[in-house]
Order: sequence, then structure tokens, then C-alpha cells
Amino acid sequence: MTVHRINPSILSADFVNLQHELERITTADLVHVDVMDNHFVPNLTMGPPIVERIQAVSPIPLDVHLMITDADRWAPGYAEMGAYSVTFHAEAAADPVSLARRIRDIGSRAGIALKPGTDPEPYLELLPEFDQVLVMTVEPGFGGQKFMAEMMPKLRRFADAKARLGLDLWLQVDGGITVDTIGMATEAGADTFVAGSAVFGGVPEDRIAELRAAAATHRH
Ligand code: DX5
Ligand code: ZN
Repeated sequence: MTVHRINPSILSADFVNLQHELERITTADLVHVDVMDNHFVPNLTMGPPIVERIQAVSPIPLDVHLMITDADRWAPGYAEMGAYSVTFHAEAAADPVSLARRIRDIGSRAGIALKPGTDPEPYLELLPEFDQVLVMTVEPGFGGQKFMAEMMPKLRRFADAKARLGLDLWLQVDGGITVDTIGMATEAGADTFVAGSAVFGGVPEDRIAELRAAAATHRH
């Protein structure tokens, strides 16, 4: 049976009380940290000094999602901080394979993220170089957007390639994940679910449990 990981996104948390917010999600698998630079996406969040502090106090490991240009320059620094996984965008890396190798060499899991408009084809044969693929189910930049069900065929292509190549690869979805949409993503092969507004819009522990239950009612 597939493990389902629930990674709350602190983009929907209270940024002034982050330590307290982190303590409310200890039943989750990893904490999803959205780094935005106002270049790759039209929003600005945080950078290395804040993520380093989150890493220092978080009870659960960090799943860093870099929505920044020049990923080659910045991503290894997040691995050096001790992030459990570092995911950069395919559209923002000059050399995704070398960058993934650097991240792995430092000791983190390497992830590659694809925006909704990005063709998965060039990445299918590169999958052995990665530990995680993130299929965006919204345009990156903001929480609280509507889940794009039309991304499910893309997810299935990665799931098929993963099976064909016999890889231990995590397939992550991010954007619009709720109890109503998580099953669709599970059916299409996702095992790792990012949820921001769905978790922090209520009592996080309850919301995490509800998401786990909803994911488990589907066959994967
Ligand atoms: C969007 C971010 C997401 C965001 C998800 O660019 O990458 O991680 O926080 O928020 P929800 O779950 O509210 O769609
Ligand atoms: Zn994210």
C-alpha cells in the first residue's frame, strides 16, 4: 500500500507566529516551505535567513519549494541548511541534472517542479536523477487557488514512468488540495500532498487527519 504524505504549506500560516504554527502541524509528514522571489512568481515570501530559522525550530523535516529564478545559484544553500528535500522549478534551472546531483551530494532529497504549462516529456527519462517530482496543480505564486484537475494526465505520465523505471520517486501535488480534490490526485498516482489553506483554514491536526482519510479511500 502506498504511503500518503501530507505536507502543510506555511504560506497559509501566521508568519508572525511561525514557531507556534509549526507546533500545530506535528502530525504532518513534512512542512512545505514556499520560497518566492517576485521574479519567478509575482509574490515574495522569504529567503535563506528565515528558512534557516524554520529549519532550526521545526519539529518535522522541511520540504522546501523554490519558486525563484537562478535556482542553480540558490538551491544548494537550502540543502546545506539541512532541508530534508529541496525542490526547484524545471523552468528556472539552467542544468537540472547537475543541480539535483549537487543537492543529493549535500545530503538532501532533490525535487523538480513543473508549472501547469510545462511539458513533462523532457523530464521523463531524467527521473532517476530525482527523488521527487512536483506537479503544480495551480499557477505558482499564491495559496487558496482552485485545483486544476486537467493536470491529472501529467501526473499519470510521471506515475507510469516511475513504474516503468522501477523508481522510488515521490510524486507530489501542490495547489488546491482539499478533502474534495485529494482523491483525484491519489488516483492519478500522487503520494505526497501539499495543502496550505485546507490545513490552516481550520484546526490543523483535524484537517491533516481528514486529508489522510480522504487520500486513503482511494485505491493507490
Ligand atoms: C503556491 C504554493 C503552494 C500553496 C498552496 O504557489 O506553492 O504551496 O501554499 O496553497 P493551497 O493549498 O491553499 O492551494
Ligand atoms: Zn509550494
